Amino acid sequence: MWKDGLGTTIATAAWFGLCALVGPASVMGAAPGAISKAPFGQAGDEAVDIYTLANAHGVEVQVMTYGATLVSIRTPDRAGRFQNIILGFDALQPYLAGVPYFGATVGRYANRIAKGRFALDGKSYQLPVNDGPNTLHGGPRGFDKRVWKAKVESAHRDSELQLTYVSADGEEGYPGELTAHATYRLTDDDRLMIEYSATTTAATPVNLANHAYFNLSGDPHHQILDQMLQINATQFTPVDATLIPTGESRAVAGTPFDFREPQAIGSRIDADDEQLRLGHGYDHNWILARAPGHGLRRAAVLTDRGSGRSVEFETTQPGLQFYSGNFLDGKPAGSGTVFAYRTGLCLETQHFPDSPNQPAFAGTILRPGQRYSQTTVLTFRVRKETPRG
Ligand code: GLA
Repeated sequence: MWKDGLGTTIATAAWFGLCALVGPASVMGAAPGAISKAPFGQAGDEAVDIYTLANAHGVEVQVMTYGATLVSIRTPDRAGRFQNIILGFDALQPYLAGVPYFGATVGRYANRIAKGRFALDGKSYQLPVNDGPNTLHGGPRGFDKRVWKAKVESAHRDSELQLTYVSADGEEGYPGELTAHATYRLTDDDRLMIEYSATTTAATPVNLANHAYFNLSGDPHHQILDQMLQINATQFTPVDATLIPTGESRAVAGTPFDFREPQAIGSRIDADDEQLRLGHGYDHNWILARAPGHGLRRAAVLTDRGSGRSVEFETTQPGLQFYSGNFLDGKPAGSGTVFAYRTGLCLETQHFPDSPNQPAFAGTILRPGQRYSQTTVLTFRVRKETPRG
């Protein structure tokens, strides 16, 4: 499972070629492959930098070294107007003040571990808990709150930004020194490729994911409820009251969790459904249909009919956490921009929540000598015409 990687992008490009309404997000713009760097402030005594990646069509992606975080993604709408399509800030301070993982790389274990406990090779581990009784996104000071080291690589035609973080043995309660890499590459065919890899000195659970909140309208005050989502999954994993999977794999058919065909996010979000009540909306893991060879597979497509923007998600990962921004509450306040209830949604490609305690789920233990790897590709498109319906 750690050998997952690139390999099926061409097949996916062919799939997109079939979509007549969809054209490349192209407008004249900055130098292809360009990556620029600027200082972005101080986290304690560590300097934080922000890097801007640009492609030939003027698409721009900003990544900062604090949390290997996606700060902005600027893509054109149907009229060629570039706007930021993820929630974020243009200064470091609000991130330091505490935001719910905006754009961050979450780890060492993305999502929840029940009661912060797991057993590995006969030994029990207790992690610090930070989400009710559970450990969420690596603990109180996970990878999202660490300064990563950055390096620009130009081995490909497109430049790429490589970020590295070495997590000490015992950090946040996890065994083994873990060396983690996050790589961002923006291509001239409007793809953002995000690759994670890791090696360890002792067996440890690993699950790395990006936690960007999307709002394709370009207006962060606009709720995401009218945006259309399609998820390539026939099953999801129901949760208990603390959002830990019960272990069941449940069919989406006939439930508000059925996104096999594109659906407006808000169309069933208030339905009388126990799982929606437990999640306060959508905050669940979908079991992605596996592609032949287990390489990249199409996970989801998010579309905003108003602006014409669409993002396709492909991943090597078995799960997709769709979180509809139910805990956004306008904080942090006083930072110029406030992000209110359901004004952003996350599509986190990852292993299933609580896998270290769930024998039925795919394993997430990385051992010395192995290499963890996950690839997620976002393709930015714009619908030229207003679709019917
Ligand atoms: C994840 C979780 C949500 C929430 C957000 C951060 O997506 O699944 O329940 O904790 O992170 O607010």
